[in-house]
Amino acid sequence: MLRRTSRRCAAAPRRLPKRFHFIEPCAGKGALLDSLIAAGGECLAAFDMEPRRTGIERCDALTLTPADLPDDALIITNPTHSRDLLHPMIEHFASLASTWLLIDSDGKENERSAELVSQLQIYQPIGRLVSSLAPR
Ligand SMILES: C[S@@+](CC[C@H](N)C(=O)[O-])C[C@H]1O[C@@H](n2cnc3c(N)ncnc32)[C@H](O)[C@@H]1O
Repeated sequence: MLRRTSRRCAAAPRRLPKRFHFIEPCAGKGALLDSLIAAGGECLAAFDMEPRRTGIERCDALTLTPADLPDDALIITNPTHSRDLLHPMIEHFASLASTWLLIDSDGKENERSAELVSQLQIYQPIGRLVSSLAPR
């Protein structure tokens, strides 16, 4: 699962700026952040409720504040698929910074998600995932 996700993640940076720095709030095992660093991104911080490698800080992403985000850092992640958490996360992240997400591609068709997803600026399907940008 992670290997497949990681390959799809590699497609995401195509729409990102040439140079960018970011935080990864649901960094898990670090597969996505590795892809982003390989694409030229600079990772300023990585968090997860249950980090699965060193260098990723244990933290509930919903408690992140502007102090955790240096100026003009993007938030980039492939967040949890649980809609109960995903929706508050999208809203919280977008309130803090421009946010780039890899999320399930059925979001647009899902009645509960439709309103939130319609606010996303870019909605780029990547297999069963989409890359989307929530501008601040
Ligand atoms: C789809 S996985 C992301 C994997 C990771 N980005 C990677 O590339 O290895 C979703 C992650 O969200 C984390 N997560 C779930 N709820 C969270 C929360 N409230 N705050 C931070 N991380 C959370 C899970 O522990 C899991 O690692």
